[in-house]
Amino acid sequence: MIFGRNEACWCGSGKKYKSCHMEFDEKIREYKRAGIKVPPRKLIKKPDQIEGIKKSSVINRACLDYVSEHIREGISTQDIDDWVAKITRDMGGIPATLNYEGFPKSCCTSVNSQVCHGIPSKEDILTEGDIVNVDCSTILNGFFSDSSRMFMIGEVDEKARKLVEDVKEAMMVGVRAVKPWKLLGDMGAAVNSFCKSKGYSVVREIGGHGCGLEFHEEPWVSYVSEPGTGILMVPGMCFTIEPMVNMGGHEIFIDEENDWTVYTDDDSLSAQWEVQIVVTEDGCEILTW
Ligand code: MF3
Ligand code: CO
Repeated sequence: MIFGRNEACWCGSGKKYKSCHMEFDEKIREYKRAGIKVPPRKLIKKPDQIEGIKKSSVINRACLDYVSEHIREGISTQDIDDWVAKITRDMGGIPATLNYEGFPKSCCTSVNSQVCHGIPSKEDILTEGDIVNVDCSTILNGFFSDSSRMFMIGEVDEKARKLVEDVKEAMMVGVRAVKPWKLLGDMGAAVNSFCKSKGYSVVREIGGHGCGLEFHEEPWVSYVSEPGTGILMVPGMCFTIEPMVNMGGHEIFIDEENDWTVYTDDDSLSAQWEVQIVVTEDGCEILTW
């Protein structure tokens, strides 16, 4: 639909289209004419939607902050799930992973050579030297937030500690490469070349995603993409930056028993950090961490 210049803008600002998003829409059309993939309007969040995502993110952060203060040797990954479930409910939210495509728990806990989608369990006890990713996602009033952090249990091997720290930096390399009117592939390429320079490999088959009004929206986000490829990043787009990085090779396999948990093929350690961002006029803002 083409908006009349003097009609109220589609973004809900109450301003006339011509003095609000008209120029923005024209700019997107120009890129499209040049053959570049551009985001449909539904991926461009309006200010009130960003506010909704930020409120959801308060719960997600509270969960991960609690985990960072209480995670220690001897607890089970089920204990982490119990904390996340309780905090989320107490704050009025719903854990987004629970029953998502059959996922049975309120967060993912991925230990050592588990790449992602580890299922919390009473049987899995954390021990000194483990590196653990806890991935939380929350629904509040229909708005989705998603982030994950790494935790180290007691004294951790120097190489493992370095992996955890380097992968956090890899995520930040991605964050800093988000620029409006640039291509998403440039961001993923920056993450990949940083990880390669450290001697690691980035997982190829699993990546990030648009997130906000649904758990997983377009675009799919690769961290091994080629520069000069991919969808145009424009202000208002929300997606996650969550590279999964292996100390050894990039190859992975999925646990046949539960059909969820992803492991490194060569049993090497894997680490991941995740934030959810919104593209702004001059870069991006981190909404969930
Ligand atoms: N937080 C994970 C993500 O980034 C959740 C994966 S879906 C699950 O998308 F069901 F496995 F949890
Ligand atoms: Co995610």
